[in-house]
Amino acid sequence: MSGENIAIVHNGIIENHEPLRELLKSRGYVFTSQTDTEVIAHLVDWELAQGGSLLEAFQRTVKQLHGAYGTVVMDRRDPERLIAARSGSPLVIGLGIGENFLASDQLALLNVTRRFLFLEEGDVAEITRRAVNIIDIDGQPVERQVHESSAEHDAADKGQYRHYMQKEIFEQPSALINTLEGRIDADSIVVESIGHGATDILKQVEHIQIVACGTSYNAGMVARYWFEGIAGVSCDVEIASEFRYRNFVTRPNSLLITLSQSGETADTLAALRLAKERGFMAAMTICNVAGSSLVRESDLAFMTRAGTEIGVASTKAFTTQLASLLMLVTAVGKQKGTVDKAKEKSIVKALHRLPVVMDQALAFDREIEALAEDFADKHHALFLGRGEFYPIAMEASLKLKEISYIHAEAYAAGELKHGPLA
Ligand code: M6R
Repeated sequence: MSGENIAIVHNGIIENHEPLRELLKSRGYVFTSQTDTEVIAHLVDWELAQGGSLLEAFQRTVKQLHGAYGTVVMDRRDPERLIAARSGSPLVIGLGIGENFLASDQLALLNVTRRFLFLEEGDVAEITRRAVNIIDIDGQPVERQVHESSAEHDAADKGQYRHYMQKEIFEQPSALINTLEGRIDADSIVVESIGHGATDILKQVEHIQIVACGTSYNAGMVARYWFEGIAGVSCDVEIASEFRYRNFVTRPNSLLITLSQSGETADTLAALRLAKERGFMAAMTICNVAGSSLVRESDLAFMTRAGTEIGVASTKAFTTQLASLLMLVTAVGKQKGTVDKAKEKSIVKALHRLPVVMDQALAFDREIEALAEDFADKHHALFLGRGEFYPIAMEASLKLKEISYIHAEAYAAGELKHGPLA
């Protein structure tokens, strides 16, 4: 809040909050928190006092903010009006009948509407019960397309499971069936299913640059072994928050692949935008959320079709990313003539068996639970792997520390003697 009237909701980070805080203090504002969000509230209050409507005051405010944010402001004296702005963080408007909504994810609104407007970078929107007016980054009124969501409302129901992560672990076989649907036939990859224009791009590609964060990065690391080992195409994988802040060299005929469950991860999105400026031949995203920023801004979108992932810890998103990547690798190899018929057939056969094998693994649930008892009181865990199992070890370590708070590290098996053993 700023004073009694200006209320803010903010998702993201304001990078220049310190100088703004000093400026506002010099104007007499008293801060009651250390949050960057409070800076926005006081700034709106100041701009409003300079004259004009709340919309105009908010437009002047967001021009002074650096960072990533999805933010909404309300003036208590005019509570029927919300002003929202988006830069870097997602913001979606849900369209109802005689009511409209704002959220950072459509999932939060599925119980009230299925019709959504996605704000674009730099958009500012004025929302009342009956109207939504959007102004783009250049200050011009714009229309954004209305999307009908096909996400399942019952995705937000845990059913028989104790928590969403458990539910999503058990959804992996069916998620994989959806991922594979229409993309493989009896013994080959359907290259055309990758998207319009994909066949030409895959034929020309000489280098792959994968950029992602967290679990998605680990999936990309597995794919590096596959792109080079199966398709014979060089591949680099980089954490998005590193890639976007360094001076990189763009190789000729290089395809950028972003990997993301949400399609809204700020660093990955920034990396995509940077790569587009820096001469990549094309940008593809392997993503789970239709209509997300990465999908909208990429040339090609390969949807993982895992269904809604609510659990913070990625599970089915990871395995469907791997299945998607293996299909893509095979398609690239096929287009470039490095994957022959026999190899393609053996990969496709393995992909067909995957949901069944996954079911068999999940049937060990009780045994795994019993084994977990032996580890629950440990303080440290070291995961080892070689080749493509090294990134699998990285993902296992991420998952253990994220879920149990047990310190966990991953090591390439051959590195163990170069420090940890000593
Ligand atoms: O939505 P994204 O895949 O882009 O998210 C990136 C990471 O934040 C995410 O993979 C995170 O590491 C996992 N949820 C951890 O389980």
